[in-house]
Amino acid sequence: YKKGFIFDLDGVIVDTAKYHYFAWKKLAESIGISFTEKDNEHLKGVSRIRSLEKILDWGNVALSNAKFQELINAKNDDYLSFVNKMTRDEILPDVPRVLSFLKEQQQPMALGSASKNARSILTKVDLINQFDAIIDGTNVSKAKPNPEVFLKAADELKMKPTSCIVFEDALAGIEAANTAGMISIGIGDKSVLSDAQYVFKDFTEISNEFLHQLIIA
Ligand code: BG6
Ligand code: MG
Repeated sequence: YKKGFIFDLDGVIVDTAKYHYFAWKKLAESIGISFTEKDNEHLKGVSRIRSLEKILDWGNVALSNAKFQELINAKNDDYLSFVNKMTRDEILPDVPRVLSFLKEQQQPMALGSASKNARSILTKVDLINQFDAIIDGTNVSKAKPNPEVFLKAADELKMKPTSCIVFEDALAGIEAANTAGMISIGIGDKSVLSDAQYVFKDFTEISNEFLHQLIIA
């Protein structure tokens, strides 16, 4: 029995979702646009460029291309200043247990992230060798909720989309997984991730028995 297990990165494997939030909030407020945690839910999983386009839409602000590029670069520098201080402690609870269990069960595993910083973060927290395939923001042209990132991951794992299971903390990511015909597992708040097939607060709630049921289903 084999399934393709596909993991989002930010907010699923590592606790970086809060750093994206801090950096976007600082950027939005610097150009007079208010930014709440609720707004942030709509940027989770969304590419860097698409995120800034959305913020500008919300604030009804138009920018020159040069200013757009300048803000995008500043946001990434801010974000990286947090990332550079990261250690293995920022791997989210029970992620190592879930990855080892799936490895023991010889299940194909992939990363499916919108981030262009994915490989450097995985290297920092020493998880770069845990995946059979890594698809990130450098490999895709269509941002989540487009399913491209997960379809490419399935393809690299040589698994049919319907035999894949996606772990996601973002609305856009759950939509992408559903559109791809994959099983969607939300990590976070049930009221936010209501379109997911299953939702867990975090991996401590996901038992090896549950994973085993997914494998043999
Ligand atoms: C996603 C994050 O994983 O990656 C988004 O949830 C982020 O917040 C996106 O905008 C792109 O990441 P990066 O690191 O390339 O700016
Ligand atoms: Mg995420």
